[in-house]
Amino acid sequence: MSAGLLDAVRQRLAESGAEPTPARVAAALRAQGRLLGDAEVLGGTESLRCELVGTGPLEPLLADPAVTDVLVSAPDRVWVDRGRGLELTDVTFTDAASVRRLAQRLAAVAERRLDDARPWVDARLPDGTRMHAVIPPVAVGSTCLSLRVVRPRAFSMDELIDAGTLPPGGDRVLRALIEARLSFLISGGTGTGKTTLLSSLLGLVGDRERLVLAEDSGELRPEHPHVVRLESRTANQEGAGLVTLRDLVRQALRMRPDRLVVGEVRGPEVTELLAALNTGHEGGCGTVHANAASDVPARLEALGTSAGLDRAALHSQLAAALSVVIHLARDRTGHRRLAEVHVLERDAGGFVKTVPALRWHSTGFALERGWPLLRSRMGGAT
Ligand SMILES: Nc1ncnc2c1ncn2[C@@H]1O[C@H](COP(=O)(O)OP(=O)(O)OP(=O)(O)O)[C@@H](O)[C@H]1O
Ligand SMILES: [Mg+2]
Repeated sequence: MSAGLLDAVRQRLAESGAEPTPARVAAALRAQGRLLGDAEVLGGTESLRCELVGTGPLEPLLADPAVTDVLVSAPDRVWVDRGRGLELTDVTFTDAASVRRLAQRLAAVAERRLDDARPWVDARLPDGTRMHAVIPPVAVGSTCLSLRVVRPRAFSMDELIDAGTLPPGGDRVLRALIEARLSFLISGGTGTGKTTLLSSLLGLVGDRERLVLAEDSGELRPEHPHVVRLESRTANQEGAGLVTLRDLVRQALRMRPDRLVVGEVRGPEVTELLAALNTGHEGGCGTVHANAASDVPARLEALGTSAGLDRAALHSQLAAALSVVIHLARDRTGHRRLAEVHVLERDAGGFVKTVPALRWHSTGFALERGWPLLRSRMGGAT
């Protein structure tokens, strides 16, 4: 079917504003007054339907259960991550305009704008998929679209061991850590599986505890009977209605949480979180972006100082608030691993540093210098 004909049908459907069901697409095709064979109508219907209702040419990629990320950097550059690093696919868009149309349509589904006045969008689709898009001229050359698939349920500890993320028997120490109600942060680079591991760990929390989650976008999927979720909100076009993660943490503390969970600590909410963990809210947890576990204190310091907390005050709170850092990394083959577990300690100058306690090893965690301290914090378990 010619591109011109597809365009005409697209136009007609857009004008009618009706839901593009296969029947309507077929009718719009017929209304073009062309005699088309059944196969052609079907083919055209399918490609238009994908474009209008689904994720277009990306649909088969997103349907693959192994795919975690789909990245479009140009009409003929569509990449996927199947857990082995990025792979170029043979999926292509007809032209740059169709990538832009898809990005705008997905943004509209998420009730967000994507146009010259607001050339990027970071949103969550109704099925939980996280989308990010930037359109030209900010994105040079082509609309860039990044989709992150969120698994409908958390991995179990056994699945994490089978996937090589945890070493054999590695779940024992994590269970003990949760049971001892130690507060922890999961650190790692982008897409290393921080949120996914946090979901899994929350599933280990006792049934009688109440989890209150504060997130920018509801990504955590803990298998737990008592979960309260709060989600932040961007301001509307008039600039009203903004709800920040910081607001959520404040509210969460009034909701009698047994575990306060901050999906990703990335701004001034770090001050409320640390204050909460210092005032009897043990067992709190979250994720934080850092390339090494030992960078976590400096990362929190940077977030805290931009919120007006001075360095000494932050470190003294941190020492009392946070016990453990669980660090994730991807190895050279792209596999996600729980690389290290660190404990936090105060040095002679009163500043907090991390000390490695466990390191991933193919036969089980290898013990490091900080292990005796971690072990005693877990009440001598394991
Ligand atoms: N252990 C794992 N094995 C296989 N796939 C995983 C694993 N952990 C996470 N994933 C997948 O990798 C993708 C990224 O995971 P996740 O969102 O948890 O990472 P993240 O570190 O929180 O990312 P971000 O930095 O964007 O917050 C998801 O699609 C998830 O399903
Ligand atoms: Mg995350």
